[in-house]
Parts: sequence; structure tokens; C-alpha cells
Amino acid sequence: MTDRRPTLYLSRLLPDPVMAVVRERFQLVQEPLDALPTPLALREGLCQADAAIVTLGDLIDAETIHAATRLKILANYAVGYNNIDLAAVRARGLIVTNTPDVLTDATADLTWALILATARRIVEGDALVRSGQWTGWSPTQLMGAEVSGKTLGIIGMGRIGQAVAQRAVGFRMPVRYHTRQPNAATSFPCEWAYRSLKDLLGESDMVTIHVPLTPNTHHLIGARELAWMKPTAFLINTARGPIVDEGAVVNSLKIGIIAGAGLDVYEQEPAIHSALAELKQVVLLPHLGSATLHARVQMGLVCLKNVQAVLDGHPAPNHVQ
Ligand code: DGY
Repeated sequence: MTDRRPTLYLSRLLPDPVMAVVRERFQLVQEPLDALPTPLALREGLCQADAAIVTLGDLIDAETIHAATRLKILANYAVGYNNIDLAAVRARGLIVTNTPDVLTDATADLTWALILATARRIVEGDALVRSGQWTGWSPTQLMGAEVSGKTLGIIGMGRIGQAVAQRAVGFRMPVRYHTRQPNAATSFPCEWAYRSLKDLLGESDMVTIHVPLTPNTHHLIGARELAWMKPTAFLINTARGPIVDEGAVVNSLKIGIIAGAGLDVYEQEPAIHSALAELKQVVLLPHLGSATLHARVQMGLVCLKNVQAVLDGHPAPNHVQ
């Protein structure tokens, strides 16, 4: 019997509960691997599909978009979609969707994990215990920075920035935020205070970044901005690597312009600046912001909901323009 199910290209293997739904409803162009496809394999896969689910490591350029003539929807398995050439998408009339909301809590939680890990030297402590060199409690051992009561500076007050701010209550941390549209923030609690980028960087003890990567936010934080921070302050980035000039962060840490950094994202993932791994005052994670089973399953289901809607001729719930 002819298989009438639509054809789906998956650029990566997704969590089991998502794969179960995929296998029931779609014909797969090919069995997905747990590895990034080559640009050629990506293009070939997209060219054979009615719909595709791709990830943030898949760079989808104009040439690929124009070559994939059968494709109706690209569902990006991420909230950020800087990996896709949107101008080409618009020119071709392709639908692109993302996965907002379902990863907000996971990413805000991980931001707090990095705030605490950098300030309280969690990774150094773990390494000391594992090394067998720990000689017991000491009044001067691995002293870190106090977090409670310190000022939290948030750059970007979308869903994730706000979720990070909400978690500051338990730490009694005054919240300062910077956003390009401060007037849109009328629903924010009055304790959250707007600041210019320079004032926010100058006042905050913890600075955390939650803006999307666009041409306007590329290197938003460079040597000049780092110099505006306190020498006791920490920089946290769980958004996108190129928002921060990684080389400038390394230099600032080496000469004590800032105290530490917690990074989940990098300019050239999976490569990192060669000096970062040598610095004790940084905590480095492999882009884990949304990496909970719950969030990753929900992200897959959101992608599938968007794919189904478009293939059924309905508007995509998470269409990005
Ligand atoms: C996103 O959704 O943009 C995240 O970076 C994925 O973890």
C-alpha cells in the first residue's frame, strides 16, 4: 500500500517521546543521527521533504532555502533562529517557526545555576574533593562572592529575562534591567528598575544576557562595556555566544576588569577561545540552557504542532516573521 504520510526531514535525533510521534505520523527522509549533518547532507535532506525540524547548529542559507522547493515549513528546534537566513525565507515564502515558552524555565534555572556556580566556586570545589587533595575545612578555603542581596543586572527582558528576574526574589536581589523598548515594560513589578546599558553594567554585581542574536546585538558586550562593569562583578551568558566578544572577556578576566564569567554559549560553538579553559574564574557549560528532558520533549512537540498546522493548511502557532 502506498504510504501517504507527509515526508519529514529531521536534522538530528530528538528525544524518544518526540521520535515516537514522528514515526507514527511521518515518513522520514532518512534515519536521523545524533550528530550535526554536513551542509551537503542538510541541503539534500531539506530538498526531499515537505517539512523539516532543524536545530540551532544547522546553518540554513539562502542557497539551501531556494533549493528546497518542496519544503513548506522549517520548524527550528530552539527559541532563537539566528541560524536561518530570514530574508531568504521571506523571499521564498517559506514558514519558519520556533519554540518559545516551553524552555523559559529550564533556561532561567540554568542561568541561576551559572550565577551560583561562578560566585561560589562550585566547579573548583568539586575538583578539589575529587582530586583527593582536600585536607579538610578551612576558614580561608575557596571563598567566593556573596550572591544574596547583591544587584542583578538583566540585559533583555523577554520571557527568559523576566523568568530570571522572578527568581531573584528569594535571593533578595534588586533587579536592574536594560531593554531596547523600556516603554513596553509597563507590566513589570515596580521593584525592577530600568537602566541604560552603561548604568546597568556599572551598578550590577551579576550581569546576565537574554537578548536574541541579531546584527544589532552582535558584540553588544565588548571591551568598552566590560570596562563599565565592577571589578567584583560576574558576567553570565546563556543566550548566544556572538553577543559577547569572547576575546575581550578573556582579556578582562586575565587583568581583573571583571571577577568571573559563567558561559553556556560561545562565538564559534563547539570551539571556545583557547584561553578560556585555563581560567579558574569561569564556569563553562556546553550550551545546556534548554537541556531538561521536559523542555526538550516539549520543544519537539511544539515543532510537530507547527509542522502539522502548516501541512493541514492552517497558520503556524509559532510563525517567526
Ligand atoms: C534556544 O532555544 O535558542 C536555546 O539556545 C536552545 O537550547
